[in-house]
Amino acid sequence: MPVQALQCKECHEQYPLDARYVCDRCFGPLEVAYDFSGLDPAAARRKIQAGPRSIWRYSDFLPFESRPPAPLTTGTTPLLKADRLAERLGLRNVFVKNDAANPTHSFKDRVVTIALAKARELGYKVVACPSTGNLANAVAAHAAANGLESFVFIPADLEEQKILATGVYGTTLVKVRGSYDDVNRLCMELASEREDWAFVNVNVRPYYAEGSKTLGYEIAEQLAFTLPDRVVCPIASGSLFTKIARGFREWQEVGLIADSDKQPVFNGAQGEGCAPVATAFSEGWEICKPVKPSGIAKSLAIGNPADGPYALELARTSGGSVESVSDDEIREGIRLLAETTGVFTETAGGTTTAVLRKLAERGEIDPDERVVLVITGEGLKTLDAVRDTFEAHEIDPSTDAFEALEGTFVRA
Ligand SMILES: Cc1ncc(COP(=O)(O)O)c(C=O)c1O
Ligand SMILES: [Zn+2]
Repeated sequence: MPVQALQCKECHEQYPLDARYVCDRCFGPLEVAYDFSGLDPAAARRKIQAGPRSIWRYSDFLPFESRPPAPLTTGTTPLLKADRLAERLGLRNVFVKNDAANPTHSFKDRVVTIALAKARELGYKVVACPSTGNLANAVAAHAAANGLESFVFIPADLEEQKILATGVYGTTLVKVRGSYDDVNRLCMELASEREDWAFVNVNVRPYYAEGSKTLGYEIAEQLAFTLPDRVVCPIASGSLFTKIARGFREWQEVGLIADSDKQPVFNGAQGEGCAPVATAFSEGWEICKPVKPSGIAKSLAIGNPADGPYALELARTSGGSVESVSDDEIREGIRLLAETTGVFTETAGGTTTAVLRKLAERGEIDPDERVVLVITGEGLKTLDAVRDTFEAHEIDPSTDAFEALEGTFVRA
């Protein structure tokens, strides 16, 4: 297997593949390093196509020597050609990557599948995380499936649907009075004390982050081993955004993507209530200034994003941007996607759809571009966002009552 070591993103110092996440030399973040030089692209492609219908079809690109046990089936979510959405936006080639079609209905199943497989391999019996909601759902469910004990820490004011959809798995659910950034700080302190706990996005973060690459691989495979022209993707910590690009680059290096020079444009999406990366982008800063989050896009409410500088660099070097949209635009984004594609997304997806709409309305997208809209979560988890955005007609059970109602409809 090509996996080699952990490597510092800044000074490139290498470390063994154990539970660590910062460089001892320069305090830079660690990521997994591979040597793909022995991979034959034709053989790699055949192996992928003959592989299981899950993220494990990409085993050669994941941080394991052999395929680990993973009881839930994550990945191979649909890439839908969204012609009616495209038409509404004056575009011709829009694709919706619907990652709500995962076991716990968000892309977080990808990162948790990898993190828990690694945690088990390293001998951990307890897993934990700070979460803005979806990660909590995924950790609780995958821990249950793996027979691990779990502790999930969330901001106390999270959407009720996400709290219920987490507690049901029998995890220890801790509601912290504070923002996500407070919860994260608490977990970093706990992680330094509890060496026998694997915090999926703290001490095993380098492995966790690898899970997001599989979203990039799937998009490329579903486009017949080519890259799209543009990707519009939500940003909280910035990990998913940068890892999709990393997945594309790896496949270009290996030769699985024939066009080795192609650089898709990356547009990041944030809500105005928590837009540290969008602000840094428009101000021309290289790092993000932490903010105190508000607004309805709670899954994206990270005020101090760990991968902010890397997300900024990707947006700039790819010719893209990081944009923010208001809560009303997010609600309209949810409705637009639902009405044109049949996909009901949560506020993160509403944010992403609203950013695509904004870019299209500004005339920044060539109508023939192949655009992938990354939908990362499920609408049933943030139902309040659509409350009062449509009318439900209540009648008595008689044809007269229905016909009276029909008479009040104004037909276009
Ligand atoms: C639905 C959804 N989309 C996107 C994201 C952003 O992920 P990242 O932290 O990798 O930027 C999150 C993170 O919590 C999420 O829950
Ligand atoms: Zn370093």
